[in-house]
Amino acid sequence: MLNILAISGSLRAASTNSALIAALAANAPADCRVTVYDGLGRLPIFNPDDEGERTPPEAARLIDAVTRADGVIVSCPEYAHGVPGGMKNALDWLVSRDAAVDKPAMLVHASPRSFFARAALAEIMRTMSFALHEEAALEIALLGKKPPEIEAILAKAENRQAMREAIQAFAGFIGAR
Ligand SMILES: Cc1cc2nc3c(=O)[nH]c(=O)nc-3n(C[C@H](O)[C@H](O)[C@H](O)COP(=O)(O)O)c2cc1C
Repeated sequence: MLNILAISGSLRAASTNSALIAALAANAPADCRVTVYDGLGRLPIFNPDDEGERTPPEAARLIDAVTRADGVIVSCPEYAHGVPGGMKNALDWLVSRDAAVDKPAMLVHASPRSFFARAALAEIMRTMSFALHEEAALEIALLGKKPPEIEAILAKAENRQAMREAIQAFAGFIGAR
């Protein structure tokens, strides 16, 4: 059983990225458990003075969850052509640790146009030594959709199939390492 941690970079209640992450968890193949990380909004702002023994509990929880996961999936919006602060903050807590080193990771996309953030996130995560599964390119266009429509799109058979296949491909990437 593979243990995959899924992180949405949006705190919005009606977030398309969070909906995609929840749907991935619901549609995971039987041999993969996808757990949704829900602490992004509670993480203090990263401060290198607060590492080691002073690591705040919420940051320790994130570091532990990433350490224990066989792989990490991120779905993240783009704000002003960049990675939203909350997501970057979470990643910053993982920089000077072993948690991210060689940790398989995959990006998925709920917006068809977040190209700056995608490139920035990939660059950041590669720099942190995540093993990024670059071939996986799951994109389900949910930009601007309201929750009932999001739910309907994510419930479509072809999208459920695409989510299953993306996780299966990621599981293969993890297994081959
Ligand atoms: C402050 C802010 C800045 C944004 N800047 C961009 C941007 O530069 N490029 C873009 O494609 N979308 C931009 N957007 C749109 C979001 O990326 C889009 O609404 C996304 O679906 C939000 O994700 P969520 O539904 O998970 O919250 C911006 C949205 C906000 C709130």
